[in-house]
Amino acid sequence: MGTCDGRRDRKAGDVIPNDVAAGHDGSGDPLLDVTRLTPSAAVTSAQAAGAVRASFRLSGELDRLPGETDDNFLLRASGEKRYVVKFAHLRADPRVISAQVRVLKHIESVAGELPVPRVVPAVDGQPWTVVADGPLRGRVVHVITYLDGQLLRAVPTSVGLRYRLGVTLAELGRALREFDDDDPVLRRPLLWDLCQLAQLRPLIAERPKTVDTSRLDEQLSRLVAEVAPRLAAQRTQLVHNDFSPDHVLADARSVRGIIDFGDVTVTALVNDVAIAAAYQLSPEPDLLGPALDLISGYYATTPLTTAELDLLPDLIGARILARIVISEWRAARFGENRAYILRNTPRAWDHLGRLQATSSAPAPASPTATPPSGWSTAYPTATSSSAPPARTAAP
Ligand SMILES: Nc1ncnc2c1ncn2[C@@H]1O[C@H](COP(=O)(O)OP(=O)(O)O)[C@@H](O)[C@H]1O
Ligand SMILES: [Mg+2]
Repeated sequence: MGTCDGRRDRKAGDVIPNDVAAGHDGSGDPLLDVTRLTPSAAVTSAQAAGAVRASFRLSGELDRLPGETDDNFLLRASGEKRYVVKFAHLRADPRVISAQVRVLKHIESVAGELPVPRVVPAVDGQPWTVVADGPLRGRVVHVITYLDGQLLRAVPTSVGLRYRLGVTLAELGRALREFDDDDPVLRRPLLWDLCQLAQLRPLIAERPKTVDTSRLDEQLSRLVAEVAPRLAAQRTQLVHNDFSPDHVLADARSVRGIIDFGDVTVTALVNDVAIAAAYQLSPEPDLLGPALDLISGYYATTPLTTAELDLLPDLIGARILARIVISEWRAARFGENRAYILRNTPRAWDHLGRLQATSSAPAPASPTATPPSGWSTAYPTATSSSAPPARTAAP
């Protein structure tokens, strides 16, 4: 898939610096998303306690939190203070962590009302550090505040809450728009970037030759051929890029937290909406209905163009495809984390099949083509330039 407009060509040095902190050897394919494709030695609670005491002068009870690539811990310190300690993947590029904490600090300064974690400085005053001694020597670590609220995955959503999710994501996007995104690390290779979907090809090529693999392969080829050129013409900016039910804390009515800025990247703005919407598909026949509530909330804050609206169904499908391909690839290699990695995959397969059935109408041939049939029911106004999506449901 081509790069989105505004992306500079990648250079090898953009990804893994050669002489960064100890433990980061600079080897490996610079065009690969290495932290996702290589294992990292697990951090034990005892090791974490020693490192966080030395680097942040914090101590307390440590409980392991789940994580995709980082080793994450909840730290209960004295006075009921709670923190999240994040040890980055052994091969993580420190510049990615640096960008993440800068983004959090930026949001705090320009949109203090947005519920994102606050960054806790290390003993040297820096927002992240490298463990200097002991078994974790060389691991990049940072500490953020723990946010209250239930993970969205455990909260039954209503029209109103889904609309709020869209509003909040749009507000976050607005705050991120003002971030100085010159750092090349914000245009790094990232398997989860829908503008880099073609990077999934080698992962599919390694799969056994089954019917499922053919389906994934066909879908990817179609998306790369038909969607990438249209996507490349859309506006780009820094986005969260992973607004999933594991990264949003909520109660019945409101969004209480937005976490995990590990995938922040400069990409097409519409990708951020599609990713969030992909997690709001319905188990009921009205597959796209709940996603549309979120999209309506987003639209009310940041209107999308006709071209962006038209891309949404394919981009939602692309995110689901990426979830399946990356999760199954990683599960086959990192067996110890298999249950966590594959926790959403059966649902993703179900959604992919139902989305394909919905959009089995002839594929759009040009940017102005009519959206797939199921989508035009959900989106009767998607082809007119100024109208918001149907089902606008402001609570
Ligand atoms: N600041 C936070 N406040 C509350 N819970 C958090 C926070 N950070 C992480 N968590 C919990 O830890 C889990 C993993 O954190 P996350 O940042 O997504 O790690 P990873 O980058 O490894 O995916 C989250 O799904 C959430 O349950
Ligand atoms: Mg995460």
